Amino acid sequence: MNIIITGASSGIGYDMVLEFSKNKENQIIAISRDINKLNNLKKKCNIEYNNQIKIIQYDITTPPTENRELLDVLESIDFVDIFINNAGKLINKKFVDLTQEDWITTFNTNFFAPVHLIKLLHSKLKNSKSAHIVNVSSMGGIERTQKFSGLSSYSSSKAALVNLTECLAEEFKHDNIHCNCLSLGSVDTQMFRTAFPSFQASVSSKEIAKFICSFSQDYRNLFNGKMIPIAISTP
Ligand SMILES: NC(=O)c1ccc[n+]([C@@H]2O[C@H](COP(=O)([O-])OP(=O)(O)OC[C@H]3O[C@@H](n4cnc5c(N)ncnc54)[C@H](OP(=O)(O)O)[C@@H]3O)[C@@H](O)[C@H]2O)c1
Repeated sequence: MNIIITGASSGIGYDMVLEFSKNKENQIIAISRDINKLNNLKKKCNIEYNNQIKIIQYDITTPPTENRELLDVLESIDFVDIFINNAGKLINKKFVDLTQEDWITTFNTNFFAPVHLIKLLHSKLKNSKSAHIVNVSSMGGIERTQKFSGLSSYSSSKAALVNLTECLAEEFKHDNIHCNCLSLGSVDTQMFRTAFPSFQASVSSKEIAKFICSFSQDYRNLFNGKMIPIAISTP
């Protein structure tokens, strides 16, 4: 399978790349800004699983059509089977303190980047026999769940991603592209530890990564346009 994952330098994205690379048939394209971390991940995939992943240094808040490396890699493949919008930005600030810049950065990362990347990848996804877009959202992005002070920009950007998922499933149904959204509860990553220093996350990054990989690959045919909460507690 041809698989693209954003936010691959740490946390859940990093563990998903490792999980998918256990299958040597998988061709993985791993995206994030930190090239050193991506290089280490590439080495690890090669040493542990003999899988030569492709890495792309890319700030997803910039237009994808301006990243030559990304365009070149995409030109080299005919189709994309799985695209996981995993990269995320969480700014923990009271609403009254959030600046316009904070809102823009959060929405650019969590919402507009998936918009632009899905648009860019649409033709490659259409070429797949079983394309699956998986958007990684949050419990905070779901109506009537517990909300947390300081997370208004983050949670509302994740809510927009949930809605986008439903809209795209409808628009893409004749292209044989399924689009689903997983809304995660607490996962033990740097993002969670920074946002909630006094809380213990309920699942490990490896565990959730394994689940998302399996969902993306094995359960695509059972879901389309769904938002699935993946949480045993909130946060
Ligand atoms: N951990 C949780 O409890 C939890 C709960 C609900 C939802 N989620 C969601 O799960 C996803 C993964 O988060 P995580 O917990 O694994 O966090 P993480 O360890 O902080 O990873 C975030 C990833 O996003 C990438 N990223 C951020 N901004 C980027 C940008 N502008 N361009 C490219 N890449 C960017 C980071 O890479 P670089 O810094 O190298 O660019 C990093 O690889 C996120 O969407 C998050 O909102 C997490």
